[in-house]
Amino acid sequence: MNKPKVFVTRQIPGPGLNLLRDQCEVDVWEEELPPEKGMLLQRVRGANGLLTMLSDRIDAEVMDAAGESLRVVANYAVGYDNIDLAAAAARGVRVGNTPGILTDATADLAFALMMSAGRRIAEGSRYVRDGRWRTWGPSLLLGVDFQGATLGILGYGRIGRAMARRARGFDMRILFTHPGRTVEPEGDARQVDLDTLLRESDFLSLHVPLTPRTRNLIDGAALARMKPTAVLINTARGAVVDQLALADALREGRLFAAGLDVSDPEPLPMEHPLHALDNCLIVPHIGSASRTTRGKMGVMAAENILAGLRGEELPNPVG
Ligand code: DGY
Repeated sequence: MNKPKVFVTRQIPGPGLNLLRDQCEVDVWEEELPPEKGMLLQRVRGANGLLTMLSDRIDAEVMDAAGESLRVVANYAVGYDNIDLAAAAARGVRVGNTPGILTDATADLAFALMMSAGRRIAEGSRYVRDGRWRTWGPSLLLGVDFQGATLGILGYGRIGRAMARRARGFDMRILFTHPGRTVEPEGDARQVDLDTLLRESDFLSLHVPLTPRTRNLIDGAALARMKPTAVLINTARGAVVDQLALADALREGRLFAAGLDVSDPEPLPMEHPLHALDNCLIVPHIGSASRTTRGKMGVMAAENILAGLRGEELPNPVG
């Protein structure tokens, strides 16, 4: 009997690919850069399953290029804003993601960005490497304090809550806003409206999915409500923030610093004004990038594919 065909849009670490290879004919895109649209349309032809990255746009055209054989799309990410869920539903294609497993790794990175931007660690490292360090200085690279400061969490899901747990170890006050609904707080975390969150946060960490409602949620008006001493952290999706407004706020001292794991687009073009700012730390979307986490994400994505190929409910469905 012919094995089902699966197209995987990038080499992934860990045992996930071998799980698939045991039962499927697996075609892996070996390049570092994602396949361009034309190439993607060619390579998906006749596939029964697609294992995709957040950088692949999986829309109706891609699904139609795969054809009627397509049964499942498994995104190698918790976010799935790159997949047209309506198009998938209309074609009876199941869609899955990798929630939970990357919660701690992503919260670790968000916390690391918060500390690094707040205490100017990357900037300090550049200062040393550039040969500008001449002596110990009482006012050299002054940052902000964490103890007793208010952490505002926008999006109190798994990763937002994991962020709160870390902040408790630093004696921080925790506020959160969960757009769209009231959620059960944990411990001393207090739910507030967005305006209060913006006004009271010393650190604002974003953990919302990208949806029409959250796109550009942190725009110029939102940034203007934040403290000039505040630090913004984004490990969610770049398009949640108006990046030009953010650059203005950072340049004009209306915001102390930003730590970004995500941008829109990715990568952010080198001529973008954010790159020129010492108080903006940008890393290349590595929130879930620990060896163990990425390995487990591969297994979860493979399990979603295998279930979808059998015509079963996915272990981690979306939509
Ligand atoms: C996700 O999973 O959505 C992250 O952004 C990358 O792991």
